[in-house]
Amino acid sequence: MRKTRPTDPSWADVTPKADFLNRRQIMAGAGAMALGSIAGPSFASIDAKPSKFSTDAKPNTLKEITSYNNFYEFGWDKSDPAQYAGQLVTDPWSIEIDGMVDKPGSYPLDDILKPVTLEQRIYRFRCVEAWSMVVPWIGFELSNLLNRVGVQPSAKYVAFQTLYRPEQMPGQKQGGIDWPYVEGLRIDEAMNPLTILATGLYDEEMPNQNGAPIRLIVPWKYGFKSIKSIVKISLTDKQPPTTWNKLQPREYGFYANVNPKVDHPRWSQATERRVGAGLFAGRQETLMFNGYGEEVAQLYKAMDLAKYY
Ligand code: MTE
Repeated sequence: MRKTRPTDPSWADVTPKADFLNRRQIMAGAGAMALGSIAGPSFASIDAKPSKFSTDAKPNTLKEITSYNNFYEFGWDKSDPAQYAGQLVTDPWSIEIDGMVDKPGSYPLDDILKPVTLEQRIYRFRCVEAWSMVVPWIGFELSNLLNRVGVQPSAKYVAFQTLYRPEQMPGQKQGGIDWPYVEGLRIDEAMNPLTILATGLYDEEMPNQNGAPIRLIVPWKYGFKSIKSIVKISLTDKQPPTTWNKLQPREYGFYANVNPKVDHPRWSQATERRVGAGLFAGRQETLMFNGYGEEVAQLYKAMDLAKYY
């Protein structure tokens, strides 16, 4: 059933074993719950301007990007989000912005998007599980939104939260993860021009399984930092808790910068498998900061990245 190849660490590797077994048993009996919903995309076309930050590497196909996903709110297999995320209602949608900002409030997504010019950002995407893709995201710089709401000088971090709606996100009825999924960035990471809020991919609105209607993309960090279906953004002076760090602090740090020299305790991060590359393509070398060192290495120049993994 699993689409993962044996070379990829699986969910069994990234979660405590007891949780994994529990969950598999629960999910085995949960098929009926799924309503058989098919993520039948009714995509609108979107105009987006090209960006100097795009890679010229060949993007993965829409099919690959939308059928091999991690979105634990919909299940634990790579194929679950495509199968079950169709039931998520993403309109209306708003984001609550609070904490150390001049203009806190609940912002309808339409108002957030009205003044922005969407860009296409073709980014490398590297999961902590050692697979990678190239994805043509559509979005805008997170700094654009943060500047509009007015970040106060006391703010040192940005915390993000995913929607909690168990009736549409069946994975949230299971234990293991302390829902809702939460993530965070240091303020300078959040303000970096590479950091975007993405609302689409290829020329289409964001498919539900990829984090509709709006998600974070931080291309120099492992994929788990790129939180999906965001409903809350908080500016704070304390490092916020993050989902994977809470679950396995020795394995998943707050920073989670792609780093071929700092292995996961249970597998190497030196190489990666490009999804869709074909059976005989072989693994490719993982690049420091996923190849974005020129843009971001200075953010970490005084830090020991083996300690702040
Ligand atoms: N965000 C939420 N809310 N829930 C998740 O399970 N998974 C993360 C990240 N964001 C996840 C999430 C992980 S582990 C990865 S690798 C990426 O989403 C996967 O994004 P993709 O499915 O669009 O490739």
